Amino acid sequence: MAVDLRDGQNQTVKYRLCRSEDIEDGHSRGFELQHEGTKTQLFVVRRGSEMFGYINECPHIGTPLNWKNTTFLTQDRSQIICATHGAVFRIEDGRCTAGPCAGQSLTPVKLQCEDEGIIVANTAIPKPD
Ligand code: FES
Repeated sequence: MAVDLRDGQNQTVKYRLCRSEDIEDGHSRGFELQHEGTKTQLFVVRRGSEMFGYINECPHIGTPLNWKNTTFLTQDRSQIICATHGAVFRIEDGRCTAGPCAGQSLTPVKLQCEDEGIIVANTAIPKPD
């Protein structure tokens, strides 16, 4: 469950997703944010000290990628995989390298890793079409 860190004086709203150590190295985790009246699903992949965030929406037909909240990666955890039709994406930039949406990319979400955990600012969340 994401925590809203709004301070009431700043236009930027920050959401704390979880503590960095809540995602093991080489693993992933999904989150749902309530933002400006809409729900946004996103996920985070941890690789070493780096965290990569993406909107949980496959560019093929727009479905969520995962079938469980912590299952966004291939078995060897080297790539992101869509559970619906098997498209695979690079962790570092979200580019699809194989599958029905090859050449397209996931939508990145800029993350901030701070003392209080993994943070997403409202300005980093893309507006729905
Ligand atoms: S919906 Fe993801 S590959 Fe088809």
